[in-house]
Amino acid sequence: MKPRETVRVSLEEGIAWVELNRPEKRNAMNPTLNAEMVDVLLELDADDDCGVVVLTGAGDAFSAGMDLKEYFRDVDAQPEHVQRRVRRDANYWQWRLLRTYAKPTIAMVNGWCFGGGFTPLCACDLAVAADEATFGLSEINWGIPPGSLVSRGLAETIGIRDALLYVMTGRTFDGRRAAEMGLVNWSVPRERLRKEVESLARELLEKNPVVLRAAKLGFKHAQTMSWDTAEDYLYAKLEQSQFLDAERGREQGLAQFLDEKSIRPGLETYRRS
Ligand code: COA
Repeated sequence: MKPRETVRVSLEEGIAWVELNRPEKRNAMNPTLNAEMVDVLLELDADDDCGVVVLTGAGDAFSAGMDLKEYFRDVDAQPEHVQRRVRRDANYWQWRLLRTYAKPTIAMVNGWCFGGGFTPLCACDLAVAADEATFGLSEINWGIPPGSLVSRGLAETIGIRDALLYVMTGRTFDGRRAAEMGLVNWSVPRERLRKEVESLARELLEKNPVVLRAAKLGFKHAQTMSWDTAEDYLYAKLEQSQFLDAERGREQGLAQFLDEKSIRPGLETYRRS
């Protein structure tokens, strides 16, 4: 993958570590970073060596949110079509691509996470934070309501009372509190964060990727459907995954449990051949 100005990617044994890389600006997301993230995610989508994407930040920040100078003030003065493009790039990677990405995604929140940083955080499938990370919906502190899809992502991820408390006060909270309210799956001391995320990513890499995709997309899309529509859609998703699954995972799993009696699928994954 070619080097980029604001994003660093290292692909190691199936795991793509994607690092927002403007540590001197606490990884605030400027138009260059947003455009580069679109390219990076599209490239990784097409790369068979990438099985899981981990999104994190360089230095002591995950992301300090949208770049207040380059994304807001500088763009205010630009023609409307430039403003539209800048917004489109931001939205495209931060939720459109990430939320229904074909491969599993994990947000690894290593430090500061503010404002616009919540959109990709909520759009990732899973999230693990450092206990010491600091989160904040700081928009209220500098004169705007949360923009982009921050509020939508929050509403889908945590409860109303917690969301409104932080939206309305801009109070900060740490990784432990983020885990308590379900904004991240869990938190660990910062020195253990990378190992912890690596082991989660490895667990996902053991699963059948076709079935994993159907499972996560099915879950995400069904959230907004009626029960009737969801029933039809989820059965269609199940049948689609069997149709697309070249390794015939279901048959292997059934045979290993029912015929060979060699696995207990409640406790372990089937042996993939
Ligand atoms: N947009 C633009 N620049 C930002 C930024 C943002 N969101 N967050 C940090 N920066 C810049 C600072 O302006 C500073 O630039 P400079 O060195 O050219 O002066 C640099 O990053 C370091 O920031 P600083 O405030 O000195 O770092 P800190 O470690 O003391 O504090 C934060 C870190 C994240 C608490 C603080 O930078 C901050 O409050 N950022 C804004 C967070 C925010 O409200 N984001 C919501 C945007 S939607």
